[in-house]
Amino acid sequence: MAAMPEIVLPPSALVVIVGVSGSGKSTLAAALFRPTEILSSDAFRAMVADDEADQGATRAAFELLHLAARRRLERGRRTVIDATSLTRSARSSLIAVARATRRPAVAIVLDPPLEVCLERNATRRGRTVDASVVRRQHEALRRALAVDDALVGEGFTSVHRLTDPPPSTIVLIEAPRAPDTARAGAGTIPGRASGSKRR
Ligand code: CTP
Ligand code: MG
Repeated sequence: MAAMPEIVLPPSALVVIVGVSGSGKSTLAAALFRPTEILSSDAFRAMVADDEADQGATRAAFELLHLAARRRLERGRRTVIDATSLTRSARSSLIAVARATRRPAVAIVLDPPLEVCLERNATRRGRTVDASVVRRQHEALRRALAVDDALVGEGFTSVHRLTDPPPSTIVLIEAPRAPDTARAGAGTIPGRASGSKRR
């Protein structure tokens, strides 16, 4: 039996799920993360245009998505981006948010066979995406993965590539937070602790 895929996440990470339409990004996100951790491009399109499929709302949707990600990461809240993130520029604007907030960026690349993504798109309920669009997205993903460690070169701290595991089999491992040495130290040095009190 194949080993269960493990994803190790550092604390307060920006998690970018990369994959074509129908690759299972939203399904995976819902299985592994809390609803409030997930920022989905569809939800932000709906927020600005009342229509999650309105591509004309993409720019405004991403302005808000990036701002929301930034505000969450400033607070150290884990933030999961559910968008295709197939272009280098889409990924680099997300990495810029992680860098600005000094948080690690982790990529989860979902890469099932193209036929699986096409089949899911053809049979899914609700919004569907044209086969021609899915094929183009698949080519973009192939380009992104053509060079070894290309995503690490873009600034991701770690990259997990999954072909098509059932989301329930994925094991999420949360790396422990490093001890807060500044605060621990203040408590152990007499006289310093009171200096840290609010005035
Ligand atoms: N699906 C499935 N098995 C999986 C993952 C997804 O059967 N392991 C199904 C979902 O139930 C859904 C369809 O495939 O009907 C698309 O999955 P979704 O998670 O919505 O794909 P996304 O990558 O989020 O697609 P999009 O970019 O279009 O939002
Ligand atoms: Mg989705």
